[in-house]
Amino acid sequence: MADAIRVDFNKPSLMGNEMAYIQEAIEKRHISGDGSFTRRAQEFLQNALGVPRALLATNCTHALEMAALLLDIQPGDEVIVPSFTFVSTVNAFVLRGAKPVFIDIRPDTLNMDETQLEDLLTPRTRAILPVHYAGVGCEMDTIMGVAGYHDIPVVEDNAHGLYGKYKGRFLGTFGDLATQSFHETKNLTCGEGGALLINNLKYIDRAEILREKGTNRSRFFRGMVDKYTWVDIGSSYVLSDILAAFLFAQLEVSSQIQAQRKRIWDFYDAHLRDWARANAVQTPTVPAHCEQPYHMYYMLLPNLETRQAFIASLREKGIYSVFHYLPLHLSDMGMTFGGRPGDCPVTEAISDRLVRLPFFNTLTEQEQGWVIEAILQFNC
Ligand SMILES: Cc1ncc(COP(=O)(O)O)c(C=O)c1O
Repeated sequence: MADAIRVDFNKPSLMGNEMAYIQEAIEKRHISGDGSFTRRAQEFLQNALGVPRALLATNCTHALEMAALLLDIQPGDEVIVPSFTFVSTVNAFVLRGAKPVFIDIRPDTLNMDETQLEDLLTPRTRAILPVHYAGVGCEMDTIMGVAGYHDIPVVEDNAHGLYGKYKGRFLGTFGDLATQSFHETKNLTCGEGGALLINNLKYIDRAEILREKGTNRSRFFRGMVDKYTWVDIGSSYVLSDILAAFLFAQLEVSSQIQAQRKRIWDFYDAHLRDWARANAVQTPTVPAHCEQPYHMYYMLLPNLETRQAFIASLREKGIYSVFHYLPLHLSDMGMTFGGRPGDCPVTEAISDRLVRLPFFNTLTEQEQGWVIEAILQFNC
């Protein structure tokens, strides 16, 4: 196995004024939460996406926890969630005592199979949690239709999908609530960070309280009350203004970042399509009515053995490709909720076959050339 890394899977980079803004935050003597960069980043997200309220959070996991608190999830409540997702989509609700009801994914977009939703609803269903995998939109018309008919809130886990669109509308603007991640692997980052997007106005006031340790401190800062006090349960979900400064610098150059990522995605796709077809490898499906945010380039190899051999063969050449989610219903925790092999057959098969190629904002064509060359030498 090669020691030297020729092409890493991810590499964080400065994209704009990150360092200057961090300096500015320090000079302004406000590096805790809710400083000017937090406000600017929140306003940027609100204006860019057209959401009524965006609240920065310490990460997407915590934004999901806030969503579970806002929906007042109680022990025994059920939430419908894909098994093919990051553990936080589920855990945020399990923390409140919810029982996850795992739904399988579609074999094309790897998103929640919306045709199975109705069958999984019970009188205890309290939330539907679509995850826009790779930032390609779930079938929101159907999901919102089912949710609306049964009066069930929707929380979009849009960790991957900032700037993705479904039928011309930004992801994160459909559900009552939506969550974003700014973890270092995401298109825009501040290392660790996230946001809660609030589309249903009834959740705004309480969201501000929950993230400020259960106090009405946000209203105090806006001069709406003359002292702040403990008014509800809550925790500390506010992001340091140092991180908000880093994030705001990246938000400001969003178009440039997205353009760079489009170039990277298109380059992989153009050079790998023929090889993929000849080797029975599936490349990403982006339906015509979806605009993707170029978050990742993944491929589905024929089976687990070829996927593992593929990762090892690239690794020998110093190239780091990775697999992704393991089926949550078959995890130790998932099995305690009754998960059994065969419950989500598409998830089980896809999870074994998926590989993600190196993808970060400053990936060069030369580096991509090395990745592509290594792949073209691999026969499935
Ligand atoms: C779909 C999904 N949801 C939530 C998260 C958690 O994000 P964070 O690391 O910001 O808490 C991730 C992590 O990448 C994710 O892939």
